[in-house]
Amino acid sequence: MTSSLLHLDYQHIGAIELPIQEAQDALYQIQNKTGKGADSLGWVDLPLQEETLLDKINIVANNLARRCDHIVCIGIGGSYLGAKAVIEALSDPFGIYKETKGTSRPKLFFAGHHLDEYYHQTLLEILKGKSFGIIYISKSGSTLESSIAFRLFQTLLYENVGAENAREQIIAITDPDKGTLLNIAKNEGYQTFSIPPSVGGRFSVLSPVGLFPIALAGFDIKAILNGAKEAMSFSGPNVNAQDNLSAKYATIRQYFYKNEGKKIELLASYTPSLYSLCEWWKQLFAESEGKENKGLFVQTAQFSTDLHSIGQWIQEGERTIIETKIMIRKPSNELKVPHSLSDLDNLNYIAGKSLFEINSISERGTTMAHKQGNVPVLRLEIDKIDEYHLGGLIYFFEMASAISGYIQGVNPFDQPGVEAYKKNIQKLLKKLV
Ligand code: PA5
Repeated sequence: MTSSLLHLDYQHIGAIELPIQEAQDALYQIQNKTGKGADSLGWVDLPLQEETLLDKINIVANNLARRCDHIVCIGIGGSYLGAKAVIEALSDPFGIYKETKGTSRPKLFFAGHHLDEYYHQTLLEILKGKSFGIIYISKSGSTLESSIAFRLFQTLLYENVGAENAREQIIAITDPDKGTLLNIAKNEGYQTFSIPPSVGGRFSVLSPVGLFPIALAGFDIKAILNGAKEAMSFSGPNVNAQDNLSAKYATIRQYFYKNEGKKIELLASYTPSLYSLCEWWKQLFAESEGKENKGLFVQTAQFSTDLHSIGQWIQEGERTIIETKIMIRKPSNELKVPHSLSDLDNLNYIAGKSLFEINSISERGTTMAHKQGNVPVLRLEIDKIDEYHLGGLIYFFEMASAISGYIQGVNPFDQPGVEAYKKNIQKLLKKLV
């Protein structure tokens, strides 16, 4: 199945009759808001957001970028993974940001996505005495990891530049009507952006949650939404399941889960640039489906790196895995293997071939081997990694996870299991006091 933005290749899953009607029913529930968690479907229309909001995001982000060379982006789970995924995919592999159109952008650091003391202490030392900025993203405004990080960096910033300047350099992205962060922002007078109440964390990358840090890093948020808008034409809720790429992908993974004893889905890419996009995907599917003692366990891999670690298990371990690959069709540049007069390394047989070509051949060889090893392989192809294609891919995956959750019979938009560990931490912390 294909569109100019995304091609879904499922020739390597074997000949199966796909039960597409279940996906059609799921699409009906999404379109008519009749399924579980129907009040959390605001993400479906995020590609159609008003230009005025995007312009405002760009203006505020550019102002902050002019003011600060360093920015701390605080958030966890759905409040940071999407932005990190897009920024890393679009940046050079050795830095967190790149120079865009000749303009230097601030260095972006992520914090508050764990509780490690050494990490936060080191970042505090890096920022000591500096006039840095803070983006604090939390829908609830009370997530422990992010709240602690905010207190640490807010305290340092007030010390460094004084309260008045600090207030100009802190942006809060949170619920428009309630929550601790909203109260803090109102009290201190921080600039805020709203997370629509009908958009949950892991479905929020196309809202200010993802768009603001991405704009700050210098990337084109309008192009991201254009890609997502294009994806509505092949993955939108009103596209018939037979022609709907997300419905097809959701149906295939649920088919193998329910009928063929497959318990794991591995998302693999052949470029480290997509490492964090795979991590974003992992959260999207794990938190949406892993409930009521059901759901594929999702994991990610970078090939060919991981062929030298979990590759053995994939080829010959328990036959409970399906594999999905994200492939890039066009090379970003041409790096060729040079010819050598001595040929001591015996590589002259591939001299003149580009690494892109060799990587593609390695993918073909791996797919053939995994298929022979009874691993159904799905391939998602995009032409290149840019804002437009990433926007499309994000929307495609979000719709697929919603459809897949509905096929599985769960509410894809809640995460009751995440509360269990939080409650224990709170109880234990209070005992310590
Ligand atoms: O997908 C989700 O809803 C979660 O992963 C949240 O994004 C995460 O727990 C962070 O929550 P909050 O934005 O309220 O700090």
